[in-house]
This record gives sequence, structure tokens and C-alpha cells, in this order.
Amino acid sequence: MASASRATPDKLPAWQTLKQHAEELKGVHLKTLFGSDQSRWSNFTRQVAGLTLDLSKQRWDDDTLEHLLALAHDAGVPGAIDSLLSGKRVNVSENRPALHTALRLPADATLNVEGEDIVAGVHESLAQMERLVCRLHAGQWRGATGKPIRHVVNLGVGGSDLGPLMVTHALADCRPDDIHPVEVHFASTMDGSQLADYLSRFNPETTIFVLSSKSFTTIDTLSNANTARDWLLGRLTQQGDFVSTPAVSAELIVRQHFIGVSASPQKMSEWGIAPDHQLTFWEWVGGRYSLWGTIGLPIALVIGMDHFRELLAGAHAMDRHFREAPMEDNLPVLLALAGIWNVNFLDIRAHSILPYDGRLEYFAAYLEQLEMESNGKSVTRQGQAVSYSTCPVLWGQLGPNAQHAFYQLLHQGTQPVVCDFIAPLKRYDEVEDPDTRRHLKSQHRLALANCFAQSRVLMLGDDALEDDGPRPEHKRYRGNQPSTTVLLDKLTPHSLGALIALYEHKVFVQAVIWDINPFDQWGVELGKQIATDTQAIIDGEGDVSRMDASSRGLIEAFWAAEQNE
Ligand code: F6P
Repeated sequence: MASASRATPDKLPAWQTLKQHAEELKGVHLKTLFGSDQSRWSNFTRQVAGLTLDLSKQRWDDDTLEHLLALAHDAGVPGAIDSLLSGKRVNVSENRPALHTALRLPADATLNVEGEDIVAGVHESLAQMERLVCRLHAGQWRGATGKPIRHVVNLGVGGSDLGPLMVTHALADCRPDDIHPVEVHFASTMDGSQLADYLSRFNPETTIFVLSSKSFTTIDTLSNANTARDWLLGRLTQQGDFVSTPAVSAELIVRQHFIGVSASPQKMSEWGIAPDHQLTFWEWVGGRYSLWGTIGLPIALVIGMDHFRELLAGAHAMDRHFREAPMEDNLPVLLALAGIWNVNFLDIRAHSILPYDGRLEYFAAYLEQLEMESNGKSVTRQGQAVSYSTCPVLWGQLGPNAQHAFYQLLHQGTQPVVCDFIAPLKRYDEVEDPDTRRHLKSQHRLALANCFAQSRVLMLGDDALEDDGPRPEHKRYRGNQPSTTVLLDKLTPHSLGALIALYEHKVFVQAVIWDINPFDQWGVELGKQIATDTQAIIDGEGDVSRMDASSRGLIEAFWAAEQNE
């Protein structure tokens, strides 16, 4: 990481140069930049690990990139990349490394961290996960009444939910054929609504729960876990409707129906998870960076271990590129610099993630946590308030659906927004029926046409039309909205791994330049603490009169509703 004594980024000479340069470029429309440079596509496009990154529709030119690269150098990005990948304690507020990249190192690699090679342990944890996956896939894992498992419900939230949810959805096509059919589901919300649905539909004899929680203290997950445990105990310890064999012991039920995944084996044991059904990982894996290890169990259950290892290999290919490629060709560095330019110099603080492939439905939700929990910070690594903007507001949805929802604002609103368009080049080759394949391939072409058209209209505005005749103002498009397009050769475990790692490293590079710590999340702690106090008051164990008028009014409304039940 950059040295503790380094100047804040806005004091670096390159920052000042960029400010001046932004003034000069401010009035220049993107269409003019394209008009004056025929080689923009080749100048601003790079390819690696099955990904093509097109940054030509950013509102910048060759000089901008040169100044941004100087800023990255001055901010110490090359040294910081080395610190991250070699296991230095880059998470300063928690005094530990952030070693998610170690989770995807090949088995024959070595990584010495503070005197210990950690790669063997990583691969042992993967092997342990594989053993559980194999038992479930072989139909050998039996519930307490002896039946093979049909439903696996992941109970987790944040990083213990979003990564596995996103990847299992994206790669559902990769499911191996020759396995006992195990369906994977996710319940995250503390209000129990997802869980309630599963409990109303699933047979407790053939359902198991994975308690996924790095800390194993998250109330959202533990409240779901307690409800699930009582549901199982209530149904399987007596001769209920579901039970086909004599009732079984509570101990056996908890043993056979719960797997734990956590960095705290002690807390898993205290909850009752059997030691051989515990998968562990390390404090040096951040929650939102954890899908690559045992938190990825739901992923391995859906796509199989071979594909899971391809996902790791794709991410590792991006890690190597991140370490080895010169900054001007380094995809995560370039993507990060485009973001810095937009936020800090063009004052664009809204960023939309728009995949044109239904399999990437949860990608935006995943990135919302990755980017905003990592870089939604306002103090430097040394604890000083920053005097510049950091992470933009990031949100998204499947692009084709968002076209019918919020694209109006992108095209004609008052707010500048930068967009990331993401799409695979090839799709549906494996569909067997020729007619269906033809139809689906034409739908894929339709989606790509829309993806390319939208970024073009956002860039050119009215000039996208050949005949830009007279029209009323409400039918005019000003364009000049910047965007990035990421093309995947094909959506595979390998390319998805590379794509996720691309964004992880982009977030890191931005954090280095902003001089913030992307690996902690202290901003969420106060809310948890106040929620605990509020719960006590709601339960009648605290003094409601100490609260502000609004919070008191809300609690009293709840009490009144309860009394009317
Ligand atoms: O509250 C935020 C957070 O700590 C996230 O960083 C994390 O991914 C999520 O909660 C879940 O945490 P855990 O895996 O410890 O249950």
C-alpha cells in the first residue's frame, strides 16, 4: 500500500494537472472526441482472459489517460498491488492482509505470509468442501430420517449471500448431469420472508441448511438459522406429517441438517454444528471477497467442483495480469482510472451496471456491496477526513429491463451517469433443438443490438440519427454520457471468475488512489448496535421516552398494531 506519509491525492501534482485538463475537456462532446480520433477503439480497448474492455466511450483522450497513469504512479499503485498480492497488512484498521487472491492460487504455488506458506491450507479447505459436495452429489448425505437430501438452503447475508447467489445464477447452465439432484436456495432477509416460503414448501427430511457467516454473529443469519432449527426439530422429533420413519433425536437432526461455514469454528460448535460439518476460512478473507473459498459451497453444489476450479482459474488469470501487465495495459487499473476521472474530475457520481444477459441478473447487486461497502469511505487510511469524492452511488439491473424502467433518466435526466454495459459475444451454441437454437441465437443478437445501440445513443445523442431533422425539445437527446463496455467471449466459469476479479481489483486501485481502506466496513456497525437497543425498547425492556419523536412514533404505531391483533 502507499506509504503512510504520502500526500493526499488532491495534493499530488498529477491531480492538479488533471483538474486543469478537465477544464479544457469539459466543453468537448464525446462525438467530437470520436470525430477527431479514428483510432479510439484500438487506443482504448484491451483484451485479457476472455474479456474485452472497451473504454473508448469514456469522456477522455490520450492526454487524460497519460495524466491518470501519472496519478496512479504518484499514488503508489504498483507498490500497493504488490503489497496486496504478497499478503502485507493492507487492511490497516483491522491490521491484517486481504488475501482473497490466495484462495485462487494453484495448488503448486507458494505464498509466504509472515513466515508461513498459506497455499496448502487453502487447498485443504477446498478438498474438505469437495468431500461434502461429493457426498451430496452422490446422494450419500442422508437426513436424520435416512433420506437423501434434495434441498440445500444457504442462510447468509451480504458477502455470505450475494457472491454465491450471483454466481450460481450466472452459471446454472454448468450443472453436471450425472449427480443426485440437489437444488440450492438462498435465504438472507432477517424478516424471514424467503425462509418462510421454503419452510412452507420443503420436506424437512430432505432439506439441509448451510449457515454461512464469517463472523457467525450476524443476527440476520442466526435468526433464520434458529427458525430453521426449530422447524426441523418440531417436525422430525415427532411422528409428524412429513416423517416416514420413527422420530429421531434432536442431536442427530442438528448434525445431519446443518453445515456451517465460518472463520469461527468455536462459534459454530457453540451453535451446535458438528465439527466434521464445519467448513472454515480465515480472518484475512473479507466477507465480500469470500466466494472463492468455502463460502462458495453453494456455487460448488450447483456447478460442481471442476467448474468451481475453473472459476478460480479465471480469477487467477486476472490476478496475474493485474500483477504483471504494465499499468497502461492493465485492465483493472484502466477501469479504476476511468472511474477516478468521472468521479473526481467530471463530477459524475452515479454509476449504473447494466448486463445484457439474464444470467447476470444479480451482478449489479453483488457489485453494489463490493464497490460501496469497500469504497464508501470518507476518512483516509491515516484517519483524516477526505476533501474529495470517493465511491459513486452504484446501482443496476439487467440492461434490457432497465431500458423500460430508468433509461429515461440516463437519456434525458439532469443527472450525469456513467454506465457499464456487460455482454457475452457468444451464446446458445449448446442448445440441441435446431429451431429453438436459431430463435434463441436471434434473441441474443437482439440483446447485443440493444446493448450496442444504447451505449451509442448515450454517447452521440441526436447525432445517432442520420437525419437529425427538427424536433421538439422533449424528443431531443443530448448524449455525451460516458460508458464502458465489457464483452465476454462467452459466459463460462473461467470468464466470470476473471470478470469478478477485474472489478475486485478496480475497487482496490481506486481505494489506493483515494487513500482509503477498502477492506473494512465500520460504517455498518453503529446501525447494528442501535438496532439491538431499539429491539429491547420494542420488546418493552427500554425507555421509549428517550428516543426522538419520529422513532418513538414509529414504535408506538407498532405497539398499537400489536394490540389490535
Ligand atoms: O454488516 C456487514 C457485513 O459484515 C458484511 O461485510 C458481510 O459480508 C455481512 O455483514 C455478513 O457478515 P457475516 O458473513 O459475518 O455474517
